Amino acid sequence: MMRDFSQAEIEEEERYFHNVMETFRQYASYSLAANNRRRKDFYTLPLEDRQLLDELGYKHKLDEVDRAILTNAEFLKEVVQDPEIFGHDEEKYEHGDETVSAIDGHTGESTHDHSHPHSHDGLNAGHPHSHGPPLTLGPGSHKPRRYRPTDADMDKLRSTLKQFVRDWSAEGKTERETCYKPMEDALVAHFARVPVEERWLSLRVLVPGAGMARLAWNIAKLGFACQANEFSHYMLLASHFILNRTTEVEKHEVYPYVHSFSNLRDRPSLLMPVRIPDVLPSSLPANSDFSMVAGDFEEIYGDEESPAEQWDAIVTCFFIDTAKNIVNYLRILHRILKPGGVWINLGPLLWHFENNATNEPSVELDLGEVKALASKIGFELHNERTVETTYVNHKQSMLGYVYHAAFWCATKQA
Ligand SMILES: C[S@@+](CC[C@H](N)C(=O)[O-])C[C@H]1O[C@@H](n2cnc3c(N)ncnc32)[C@H](O)[C@@H]1O
Repeated sequence: MMRDFSQAEIEEEERYFHNVMETFRQYASYSLAANNRRRKDFYTLPLEDRQLLDELGYKHKLDEVDRAILTNAEFLKEVVQDPEIFGHDEEKYEHGDETVSAIDGHTGESTHDHSHPHSHDGLNAGHPHSHGPPLTLGPGSHKPRRYRPTDADMDKLRSTLKQFVRDWSAEGKTERETCYKPMEDALVAHFARVPVEERWLSLRVLVPGAGMARLAWNIAKLGFACQANEFSHYMLLASHFILNRTTEVEKHEVYPYVHSFSNLRDRPSLLMPVRIPDVLPSSLPANSDFSMVAGDFEEIYGDEESPAEQWDAIVTCFFIDTAKNIVNYLRILHRILKPGGVWINLGPLLWHFENNATNEPSVELDLGEVKALASKIGFELHNERTVETTYVNHKQSMLGYVYHAAFWCATKQA
């Protein structure tokens, strides 16, 4: 049984959810303002310089970026159209339709986005309990004033657009083949004795930190009963939209790379449209058992009163380094796995809470130490190897990170 949440915790959660909704709603004005900064900078230049830039079509490029931002905004508006499923009362907050203005007074994004693709400040560290300043009441109003998204909020939203590419576009296929395929193959190989048509009845797979849920969906498509777990509202809103509200392959067009002009070879790489989804999410077999559980992995599965030994397999992709205390993560994985069950892992060790701003305790082990810890906790590692992979990579960028990610399968010793 999970502990009961206090009224204050429930309100804090509701307020955070509202802030995320406002970030989606204010994407257009924020992003157009950031692009408009470029326009303003252009007019500070000497006439001669402006003429040269005009000949390159620089101003025209800014107009094209505006159009791409508006297309993204339409899409993001659809994503948050019916948040009722999340059970929060949005009516008590001040909001409205987005006023699309390029001079909204936002400071806009920083020109040099050095943020790492799998970064500490992106959506990955989006812990639901530490978000933004408290809301204040407007004059004569009983509703709190409209929330003003921070640069960090918008960063998470921009990362969400890129995560759509990783999980639900044809462009993300290479990355998925590199990361998800070896995990799926290992899962199938481990349970080769079970006939395909019986998988959903007898084999339960958990995917913690599921992001936009493509890996979990693929596992359900293979016939396993699969549960995805995720706590970021950005990811939950996006995956809810994709899984439950998308009716056509390639229905939506987004421009994930229009927010930064750095490290681009040419205009098409800035204005690259991506269509989503590449598959119909509703195309799972009729008897499939696929669910998404919202909430903190440690709170949901780490509760000592919740039943142990529930899962035949646990699949973690770019997840274990989100731990503040990796000992607790591994203990939970071990406790909830059935004896003989398998934990399949792929990912780097970019400890999300290393040097965090709120002084949360963080344990940061090297790979050898993580493996030694896993053995001590009761796992036997096999199939270990290194997988070279990108994460939300823009193929046409002049900058790219490659992770030398660790892959392993680990069986729970009885
Ligand atoms: C780096 S992303 C990886 C997402 C996905 N597995 C993939 O490979 O694309 C890590 C994910 O774990 C989620 N996450 C981090 N800590 C979590 C926690 N304690 N409980 C549930 N989800 C968590 C983050 O919100 C994020 O979506």
